[in-house]
This record gives sequence, structure tokens and C-alpha cells, in this order.
Amino acid sequence: MLISGASGAVGSVAVQLAKQAGSRVVGIAGGAANCSMVARLGADAVVDRKASDCKEQLEAATPHGIDRLFENSGGPMFETSIARLNNHARIALCGLIDGYNSTERPPGPSNFGLLLTKRIRTQGFIVLDYMDRAAEVEGFLGELISSGQLEAVQSVLPGFEQLPAAFVNSFSNSQPGKLIIDLTA
Ligand SMILES: NC(=O)c1ccc[n+]([C@@H]2O[C@H](COP(=O)([O-])OP(=O)(O)OC[C@H]3O[C@@H](n4cnc5c(N)ncnc54)[C@H](OP(=O)(O)O)[C@@H]3O)[C@@H](O)[C@H]2O)c1
Repeated sequence: MLISGASGAVGSVAVQLAKQAGSRVVGIAGGAANCSMVARLGADAVVDRKASDCKEQLEAATPHGIDRLFENSGGPMFETSIARLNNHARIALCGLIDGYNSTERPPGPSNFGLLLTKRIRTQGFIVLDYMDRAAEVEGFLGELISSGQLEAVQSVLPGFEQLPAAFVNSFSNSQPGKLIIDLTA
């Protein structure tokens, strides 16, 4: 299972849950520090999306291709990932953060046709559709956190004045996990 945005709030949880479900997990993160953090969470291999050889890194990390893709980022790395998908692979389409700041609509993966030829099922989903199960999930994840089976990765920045830069930076040089601004500091 390949998870992009693996150092982020969603991805860091996805990595750990996928490991607990028995998958061989490969994460994609940006830069050495974020990649080490994802490895520490249990990923079997991590690809540095900011490295010039990221394509080769992904090939080496997925010698038998990819069966499941949890997609958080979109963009060039998504195209590289699509190329590594096996026939009948499945994509859970969670986010496309790479395009959120674009002033024009991103053109989309140039290898979109591979979804057809490889018979890949892609499912977009929005968390708001499942709000009736929020308490159930909070209970489930809360128990994993309190029993030490799940790490809630957080980056806490002190002071309200950090907010604008932290938001802008979250699209490039990301702080790992859930970004929290401590208004009391
Ligand atoms: N479908 C839903 O209901 C739902 C709900 C919540 C969030 N989302 C989406 O899920 C994704 C992750 O959310 P999040 O809360 O985990 O965000 P987050 O904490 O900001 O993490 C996203 C991670 O993506 C990586 N990233 C940032 N810019 C990127 C780029 N241009 N290309 C590739 N990777 C990039 C960063 O890690 P590195 O720098 O280490 O790569 C960052 O830590 C977002 O796309 C968000 O919109 C969807």
C-alpha cells in the first residue's frame, strides 16, 4: 500500500492503520526529517518526493508494484505512482494538495488512461459524508492512542502570529502531523 502525504495529519494515521491491518506500507514524504518520521511510524519504505531520484526511489520501494494507493497529494508524484500500480489496484482518493494553490486548474495525470488499461477502481471520499460515525471513529482511534498503538503526530507552534506563515508553509515545507497553533503561548 502506497500512502502519499504520509507525514501529514491524515497520512501519518493512515500509515499506522495500514501497518496494523497487515499491509506492506510505503510512504511518500518530503525531506529527510519527514521521511525519518514516517519510517519511525512503521512504514516499510519511504520515498522522498523532494529528491531528484524520487521516481527511482519509488521503483526500488515497490519491486512488485502497488496494489492500494491512499492518495493525499496529486501532482507529479501521483502520476509516478499511477505508473507503478498493478492491474486491478485500487485508489482511495483523499486529497490533491499539490493543486490547492494553483491559479489554474491542474491538468490532471497525463497517464490517466492507465486507470482504464489496468482496470483500476478509484473512489473519492469526503469525511463529511460519514459524520454520523464520528463518535465511533473517535472512540476507536482514542483507544488506540491511549493504549500506545497509535501515535498522534502533532507539531505545535506557539502564538497566534505564527498562523499565517504556518498555513502558507503547510503547502511546501510541512511540519509533521497535525499542525496546531497554541494561542495561549
Ligand atoms: N477527503 C476528505 O474528507 C479529507 C479530509 C481531510 C483532509 N483531506 C485531504 O487530505 C490531504 C492531507 O490532509 P492533511 O490534513 O493530512 O494535510 P497536512 O497535515 O497539511 O499534510 C499534507 C502533507 O502533504 C505533503 N505535501 C504538501 N504539499 C505537497 C505537494 N505539493 N505535493 C505533495 N505532497 C505535499 C506534506 O508532507 P511532505 O512535505 O512531508 O511531503 C504535508 O505534510 C489533503 O489533500 C487534504 O485536503 C481530505
